[in-house]
Amino acid sequence: MKERTLAIIKPDAVKKHVIGDIIRRYEEAGIPPIALKMMTLSKDQAEGFYAVHNARPFFQDLTTYMASGPVVVLALEGENAIKVNRDLMGATDPKKAETGTIRAAHGASIEANAVHGSDASETAQVEIAFFFPELKS
Ligand code: CMP
Repeated sequence: MKERTLAIIKPDAVKKHVIGDIIRRYEEAGIPPIALKMMTLSKDQAEGFYAVHNARPFFQDLTTYMASGPVVVLALEGENAIKVNRDLMGATDPKKAETGTIRAAHGASIEANAVHGSDASETAQVEIAFFFPELKS
């Protein structure tokens, strides 16, 4: 099933100059971007985006980190895009991520883990609408 997912190339990956490597992986996996932009999130935007995590102990650190430098936000589209992207990313903690995944290659810590990807169809829709309200299905 053709679907869409939201990805963010996080500040650590932008600083390491691996935007190109990460986008190449999306393209080669058959989930190329259909919309993308580079931006620096405000703390409010980061808190709004990660609102589902607002009761977690890492919420303040996470949102401060995500607002600490430029990110690249992408809407990806392709067959089974959500699962394909989750498999490409690897486990949240780069130390546990499988060899060959984006987080194993580029992640430094559970916070600076190179990329975000939507975890389910409902969150993908909400997350895409958050950054690309103009994008029609
Ligand atoms: P992400 O996929 O962007 O979704 C939420 C983020 O919270 C996650 O990746 C991690 O970078 C970050 N995070 C920080 N600490 C934790 C933790 N203990 N458990 C899960 N996620 C964490």
